[in-house]
Amino acid sequence: MHILEKVDCVGTKAKKLRIAFAVMAIFGAASCSRAPTEPASVEGWPTIGGSYREDFYSPLKKISAENVDRLGLSWYADLDTDRGQEANPIIVDGVIYVSTAWSKVYAFDAKTGDQVWRFDPQVPGEKGFDACCDVGNRGVAAARGKIFVGALDGRLIALDARTGAVVWTAKTFDPETPYTITGAPRIVKDRVIIGNGGAEYGVRGYVTAYDIETGEKAWRFYTVPGDPAAGPDGEASDAVMKEKAASSWFGEWYKYGGGGTVWDAIVYDEDFDQVLIGVGNGSPWNYRIRSDGKGDNLFLSSIVALDAETGAYKWHYQETPAESWDFTATQPIILADIEIEGATRKVAMQAPKNGFFYVIDRSNGELATLPQPFVSVNWATGVDAKTGRPIVNEEAKWSASNDKNFVARPGAYGAHSWHPMAYSPDTGLVYIPTQDHMFGYQDEMGFRFHAGEWNLGNASATNVGPTSVEERGKSIKTIGASITAFDPSKQKTVWRVQHDGIGYGGILATGGNLLFQGEPNGMFSAYRASDGEKVWSFDAQSGAVAAAASYEIDGEQYVAVLAGFGGVVGIFSPYIKDPHVRPNGRLLVFKLDGDASLPDYEPPEFPFYPPEDEAPPSQVALGAGLYAGHCMRCHGAAAWSAGVIPDLRRSAVLISPEAWEQVVLDGALKSQGMVGFDDKLDQNDAEAIRAYIGEEARAAQHALTTLSE
Ligand code: HEC
Repeated sequence: MHILEKVDCVGTKAKKLRIAFAVMAIFGAASCSRAPTEPASVEGWPTIGGSYREDFYSPLKKISAENVDRLGLSWYADLDTDRGQEANPIIVDGVIYVSTAWSKVYAFDAKTGDQVWRFDPQVPGEKGFDACCDVGNRGVAAARGKIFVGALDGRLIALDARTGAVVWTAKTFDPETPYTITGAPRIVKDRVIIGNGGAEYGVRGYVTAYDIETGEKAWRFYTVPGDPAAGPDGEASDAVMKEKAASSWFGEWYKYGGGGTVWDAIVYDEDFDQVLIGVGNGSPWNYRIRSDGKGDNLFLSSIVALDAETGAYKWHYQETPAESWDFTATQPIILADIEIEGATRKVAMQAPKNGFFYVIDRSNGELATLPQPFVSVNWATGVDAKTGRPIVNEEAKWSASNDKNFVARPGAYGAHSWHPMAYSPDTGLVYIPTQDHMFGYQDEMGFRFHAGEWNLGNASATNVGPTSVEERGKSIKTIGASITAFDPSKQKTVWRVQHDGIGYGGILATGGNLLFQGEPNGMFSAYRASDGEKVWSFDAQSGAVAAAASYEIDGEQYVAVLAGFGGVVGIFSPYIKDPHVRPNGRLLVFKLDGDASLPDYEPPEFPFYPPEDEAPPSQVALGAGLYAGHCMRCHGAAAWSAGVIPDLRRSAVLISPEAWEQVVLDGALKSQGMVGFDDKLDQNDAEAIRAYIGEEARAAQHALTTLSE
């Protein structure tokens, strides 16, 4: 096993400057001789996003728009989990390290695909209950011979890069609280930094830095103020909470956590020795319930710059003051030096959920260009050039008036979510995996907080919302997805590749004038970066939502991507045609003239199971309400699932009251993420839900039969 035997030598191998800086920072630039079996040369992909700039751009160009028709599978590896696979692999010294659903980690020889090691943190299945948007994990970090992964249950784990053995573990939160980790840790000098998620449930966001060698906590930054009665936290955020944030909150937000989780973007900006964090939505979403409908609620929906050494506040830019639409600013942040009106500016770029494109001057947090929408936007008319604040439409302020449903475009799925966008310095364009959709919001009167469950204060979305697909269609409408090629200096869309439906993957751009992107239907495709022309496609047999990485070993360029459909669209949206049981996830690696092939795959039969006898309407109605309150967020609206979590109309368990009770009340499938509900539901309730789903199965079966007649 040659891999990382000499991790400290990597610095001597790196050739290109951008690779060299990243690798040196990661492993230290010691010199030493090469073991005989080591690859002669490696151009790696040492961090998620490819470098500290996280631009998802590889300068490699041996695979190009001219020869991409020769691109074929070099090797693949089957994973042992079937939920959403969201990680961008990293490649260091000839080894691919990748995390998968349930926070497992694999190491493979990047050239041959031989497994080097595998690590399972054994996250308890019940913890899946706390994950709003699937049990994915978006990647690992590497430094000083260690690989770091954030586990869903809050452990930050350092592994020996050679063996996968645990070096240290830090507890970043109490696993009994509804926090989760799905994001990747980031390396900042001698520290590893991690955030968390959970704002749908009612938590308070923060990031924490730990010592790389020991796992000891160095500092923590809270993104929103805590309970004023409890006094300061004794953390790096104390000063700015007092000076800026506290006065922007009203009411009793601290009872619901306030939100502001940092669940994805954390980037280290070497130029200014600062860490940029993307802060999430408010908890609950409803601004009236959260903050009496007053104040900006700092630092929700903001990019905040922290001193890399101390974690102290440096500057912030708030994209959506008084956030009420689940408009997170957690989407990936790309660091770049771009030309704006003749001058080179050091900027941070983000295409957040709210639909406007932000180019921020990294020296001071000010707007470098006036944000323009990159999709259709109806909640605001623009951003005020003087104040830098969005000009919000009155009717979009849904929690200020309790009698109407505001359908926002974009809505809670976001105009762009975590799926990485890419920036190519060759074309000067940012390539955004865009989603165009609408989402309804309505003030939830008589809101009551349910510990451990979704607490949005939005009557349209969950808990008390519409239950039929028709009704739901009015509050969630998917219009389409696209690759949006956006010019950040001019703030304008240059072209789009239009897709059907939503649920498309992150994007990799390469020096070969190529973009790579996965599709929910299982295709993995390449487009010309200059004009969006589709030039290559491969049937991966399972939707790929993660972004690809590219690397070179011994003169050959590779493209690697995870396949495995999932994420919030995968589990919450019923608008995926053809739901089917999916195979486990897979890592796919391509090269020119690669001649490996996948085994044949026949999706299994997936029939409906309507019960023989019709259930009484009153029982069905009771079941529909309970289903919406407790089951819908995982099994889909109107019992129609996109297939990542079982479609209950198609479950054999549906026709056995005994089996149903064992699963739904007793938690027989708890270790797989299906907890028992005996603390929330009784037998009568469980039977009512079964009756309701039975009738949905009958309706679906009937529709099928009518269609085929
Ligand atoms: C946090 C997500 C989540 C919630 C909420 C949830 N489930 Fe599940 N459920 C799952 C997962 C994951 C599985 C698949 C477990 C496995 O792989 O065996 C599952 C499986 C099931 C199954 C077995 C299906 C089969 O064919 O194997 C039934 C029945 C079921 N759920 C019913 C319900 C009901 C009823 C509710 C609401 C009271 C509910 N679930 C709420 C995640 C959830």
